[in-house]
Amino acid sequence: MTHQYTYLSPEKKKELSDIAQRIVASGKGILAADESTGTMAKRLQNIKVENTEENRRCFRDILFSSDPSIANNIGGVIFFHETLYQKADNGKLFPQVIKEKGIVVGIKVDKGTAELGGTNGETTTQGLDGLSERCAQYKKDGCDFAKWRCVLKISNGCPSALAIAENANVLARYASICQQVFVLVLKSEFSQKKHSFLSHYGALQVLAATYKALSDHHVYLEGTLLKPNMVTAGHACSKKYTPQEVAMATVTALRRTVPASVPGICFLSGGQSEEEASVNLNAINQVPLHRPWKLTFSYGRALQASALAAWEGKAANKKAARDAFCLRAKINSLASKGEYKPSGAADQSSMQSLHTSNYVY
Ligand code: 13P
Repeated sequence: MTHQYTYLSPEKKKELSDIAQRIVASGKGILAADESTGTMAKRLQNIKVENTEENRRCFRDILFSSDPSIANNIGGVIFFHETLYQKADNGKLFPQVIKEKGIVVGIKVDKGTAELGGTNGETTTQGLDGLSERCAQYKKDGCDFAKWRCVLKISNGCPSALAIAENANVLARYASICQQVFVLVLKSEFSQKKHSFLSHYGALQVLAATYKALSDHHVYLEGTLLKPNMVTAGHACSKKYTPQEVAMATVTALRRTVPASVPGICFLSGGQSEEEASVNLNAINQVPLHRPWKLTFSYGRALQASALAAWEGKAANKKAARDAFCLRAKINSLASKGEYKPSGAADQSSMQSLHTSNYVY
């Protein structure tokens, strides 16, 4: 039996838990705008816009300078390093623009994945070196939460015991280093192809190992948020499942593995279309089982796709792009309360699959 030495003060614990609760307050979720420069290149290429620093800034300005009422739907924004030091059209630094709306600023702190030798292409996540110093600087620069991404492959024989153990441990090390400073988003992403429904079993193993490691590392769970996939079929699986089936499998897996002390579970959209991600989140919030955490969104693609399509890199389209983003934020806010009633009038871009093979964020 190990003894837990004093680690976080009661004041620090209260601060962390209050921030986590603010991010997932009723009707709120997270805008994941932490695409790396390389990922932005792909996004901008789709709308035939050059991947320059100014074009990346311009698109982020469309999202971040939305009407302050966006704060009813968005509780936190995850930034990429470059964006943290860019300015809005009104000359203010982006973190200030977000904070003035009462939204919490977060930062992606991992440094991407690296292959685990001798496995079938499985990975671990890099970025622990210098993490404590980087976090202290990000805190000074306005951030109050951090995100770290681990990716587990789901296919025959994967995830391996090695990948499960290694990723659980690296996520717990990140958490233990950063929680002195930040609320933590723990992203456990499944990359999946053909498997018919249930990454379910894989998800159970991965989440159980993750919470065991977090416990071993004395992580204060009230100051964390989990960011997993929903339990869906692989994109190449021919059988289709209803939102109710996805929702039941997802909530069942989470109830078996995620402690009730975790304030919120904020799903990634993982290549679902905007509309699919909203409808599935809505169904999740209607599952007739006790759900001790907030179940909400931390979407990247599923909050930005129709805004990008509306923008096309043209100043004249900025308002249309911002309206498209605000509409998705509003819909996902309703879905996070189980109150979204699709009108059947979803436009083409919101129905398009946003899947990318071997996705890198
Ligand atoms: P999605 O595009 O899958 O929603 O990913 C968001 C994300 O996890 C970035 O933090």
